[in-house]
Amino acid sequence: MNSQDTTQNPLKTRIENFYTQESVHYTAKRYDGALQTYPQYIFRRRRSIVAEIIKSILPTFNRVDISIFDIGCADGSVIQYFDNFVDKKFAHIDAIDISEGMIAQAKSTISDSRYNFYLRGTENISRTYSIVTELGVYTPNIQEELSFMSNKLDTDGYIIYGVALRNSIEARIRRRREKNVEFLDTYLTFGQIKQACARTHLEIVSYTPYGIFIPKLWAFPKIAQHVQSCIDFCVKYIPFSTNLFHEVVFVLKKKV
Ligand SMILES: C[S@@+](CC[C@H](N)C(=O)[O-])C[C@H]1O[C@@H](n2cnc3c(N)ncnc32)[C@H](O)[C@@H]1O
Repeated sequence: MNSQDTTQNPLKTRIENFYTQESVHYTAKRYDGALQTYPQYIFRRRRSIVAEIIKSILPTFNRVDISIFDIGCADGSVIQYFDNFVDKKFAHIDAIDISEGMIAQAKSTISDSRYNFYLRGTENISRTYSIVTELGVYTPNIQEELSFMSNKLDTDGYIIYGVALRNSIEARIRRRREKNVEFLDTYLTFGQIKQACARTHLEIVSYTPYGIFIPKLWAFPKIAQHVQSCIDFCVKYIPFSTNLFHEVVFVLKKKV
């Protein structure tokens, strides 16, 4: 069993409660309607990066029945988006979350027999998957989380891991200006994440940083939508800039 299932951690409880309150309007606030804010940009940009990654790795499998396991699935809308994005639908989808409210919301909105939603720690599944996704999830112990993901993965499968960075521009500003942001201290630097991967039997196939926070830019959403992607695109090419980004999406594979 993963240690996250048993630890009584006040931060984890706060996160669970926060997401349970958010569950009824999770997708509407983040993914629906016109793009207005930097957080919405972050959620939507990650979703589109991951959708393209999934599309590009599917032809590498020499089987048609692709299964996927989503950790931190929220109300299920993101995994459903990926399922609709690819040409051939996934054969089997299992998804877990620490928030009871999110799981209840997912079960009430998605009634497709290929989908199964579980409160994390109650899933009791022994199978492995072609793809494991974990995007924007609270990770108090990355080493444990990497082995949790790896244990769920087929030998030829891929992990897609979107993880926020400790010293992004936004994290630095929020640490200085806001109270109750201790969750930022659970974030790691790009180097620490790479080191953690190196300690496993997973290799990094690729990584995509995104989200350079520019204060006040999103006061002008129509301009920001265009400028933000250009800034993200250009800053990527500046040496040693990765730690300034909000998040990195890693593609990981078992070492052969
Ligand atoms: C920021 S949202 C991201 C949701 C979705 N993956 C997305 O990309 O929109 C974080 C979700 O992960 C859940 N979560 C946080 N920590 C978790 C953990 N350790 N294990 C499973 N779910 C977790 C939260 O309850 C919430 O639904």
